[in-house]
Amino acid sequence: MRDGGGSLVSIRDLDRQDLLALLDAAEGFLAVDAPVAHRARLAGAAVGLVFCEPSTRTRVSFELAARRLGADVVALDEHHSSRSKGETLIDTLATLRAMGVRQFVLRHAEDGIMARLRDSLPPGSGLVNAGEGTRSHPTQGLLDALTIRRHRPDLTQLTVTIVGDVAHSRVARSTVAALELLGVGAVRLVGPEGFLPPPGQMRGERLHDLERALSGADVVVALRIQRERMAATEFPEARSYRERYGLDVARLERLARPDCLLLHPGPVNWGIELDPDLARWPRNLMREQVRNGVAVRMAVLATLAEALHADA
Ligand code: CP
Repeated sequence: MRDGGGSLVSIRDLDRQDLLALLDAAEGFLAVDAPVAHRARLAGAAVGLVFCEPSTRTRVSFELAARRLGADVVALDEHHSSRSKGETLIDTLATLRAMGVRQFVLRHAEDGIMARLRDSLPPGSGLVNAGEGTRSHPTQGLLDALTIRRHRPDLTQLTVTIVGDVAHSRVARSTVAALELLGVGAVRLVGPEGFLPPPGQMRGERLHDLERALSGADVVVALRIQRERMAATEFPEARSYRERYGLDVARLERLARPDCLLLHPGPVNWGIELDPDLARWPRNLMREQVRNGVAVRMAVLATLAEALHADA
């Protein structure tokens, strides 16, 4: 990795070559024998999962990834750990390090915490960002890029439209950063003004008109409204939001390209950003994203373990 050593804090830690190597490694981990074939890779190592915000997909997929690589997994339950007695996060990581944990997988609500912790980690350990505030979710960016690349290997001609609460979305930031490294043709960001990042903060054409944003789109990424990251007054009225920005089969088939792909990082607010009729739509790749997430996290943990080993 360019600057990260044994850590992955942001897609910005990667250059194009690093990104391609991770995606290629993840392809290998998608093979049918992957759940049992790589158990020697991290045998004897221990991975610590520290999730200070809720998660299903990311937490479970990191756990499966670590186990499929043969590692021991320690999952800290924040509310029943000494964090609830005021222990700092860095003391918690140092305590786990003293028990032999070298790789930490952390989810946290605070923007900027990952870089700070990475710089003060106990020697010989690495940090993987599993979701940081509104800023960054690099392994989601990688799995989105992998999912798109498996269907559309040449991204340079693709138009990718991201719909919804982009402003509060760490997924959108990391996915766009990963797609940029792959040379994506065009990115469009569409939603109400309060849901779009300030001009210039993220690559992408800012739009308010869904019909224009979907026109000719090859890939549509729908986002969940991040209710937990906004004041109640910022939350739009569900019916008017659905009417203006909700996606359904008819809308996608009428406006986007005939072979358009749909992604969503999950969890979904069905009936708000996605109509339930999209659950079984053949070009809805949500479940494929989840499956690819395990392979991507195996690739990240294995690659970072090698970097840690080289530093030792
Ligand atoms: N996409 C994602 O991060 O989902 P979880 O919150 O379930 O991990």
